[in-house]
Amino acid sequence: MSTDAPGAAPLIRLRGVTKTYGSGNTAFQALRGVDMDVQAGEFVAVMGPSGSGKSTVMNILGCLDTLSAGSYRFRDVAVEALDRNQRARLRRHYLGFVFQGFNLLGRTSAQENVELPLLYRGASAAERHRAAREALAQVGLDGWGHHTPAELSGGQQQRVAIARAIVTQPQVLLADEPTGNLDTQRSREIMDLIATLNRERGITVLMVTHEPDMAAYARRVVRFVDGRVDSDRLQEPVMSPPVESTLAGEGG
Ligand SMILES: Nc1ncnc2c1ncn2[C@@H]1O[C@H](COP(=O)(O)OP(=O)(O)O)[C@@H](O)[C@H]1O
Ligand SMILES: [Mg+2]
Repeated sequence: MSTDAPGAAPLIRLRGVTKTYGSGNTAFQALRGVDMDVQAGEFVAVMGPSGSGKSTVMNILGCLDTLSAGSYRFRDVAVEALDRNQRARLRRHYLGFVFQGFNLLGRTSAQENVELPLLYRGASAAERHRAAREALAQVGLDGWGHHTPAELSGGQQQRVAIARAIVTQPQVLLADEPTGNLDTQRSREIMDLIATLNRERGITVLMVTHEPDMAAYARRVVRFVDGRVDSDRLQEPVMSPPVESTLAGEGG
């Protein structure tokens, strides 16, 4: 797990995090005091019933949303004290996202979808092309860059989304139900890929899933109930096969 010296700050530290949507009579507290530390290199599955605050905490971790009270420290920096631009920079440099619905641009090639985060960073065209080709190869889509999402299967679209998430070489991958729209076989292939990125590239992974089979790939399972951490357990992750064998035979 962590290679940090004893006493070193964790990569992620949440303390007393609350999130209230709306105000007055319609106010709803989606998070009710979340404490959670994540060390660099961990693979955490976030589980819990629908409405328990999983997506809310992921959006806060990903700087896509702000907390209402409490503290979020990332690399020992107080995220709630950053302004909008600083949060955007943190997001672009350290975080990658994968969503259940893939969220690819429909009329845009896989290659261009993957290049997009680098465009925001101001990378040159040559650098964008090179990095996107490399990221597509890493997810087993070498040579598929010219296809639009409609020409790809669900499993392949999620691979493109993962390539887009890792093209900036983020320290953390945040995945919210990444296999929620996929059948069992494609789900396993996506999990093998995510587990390989964690194991071989050292990317810290936080992944929401409601499927025990998918959570089994993680080393740690944090369970949310009613906007709080209900349990937090370590487990022996299922071994995924080497990436070569998982990437062969992608069809559907
Ligand atoms: N933008 C929002 N406005 C109001 N309520 C919200 C909003 N987003 C989420 N909620 C509510 O907060 C609770 C937690 O939502 P969410 O984090 O999406 O749950 P989960 O991902 O665990 O299913 C739910 O009751 C949901 O209806
Ligand atoms: Mg959710």
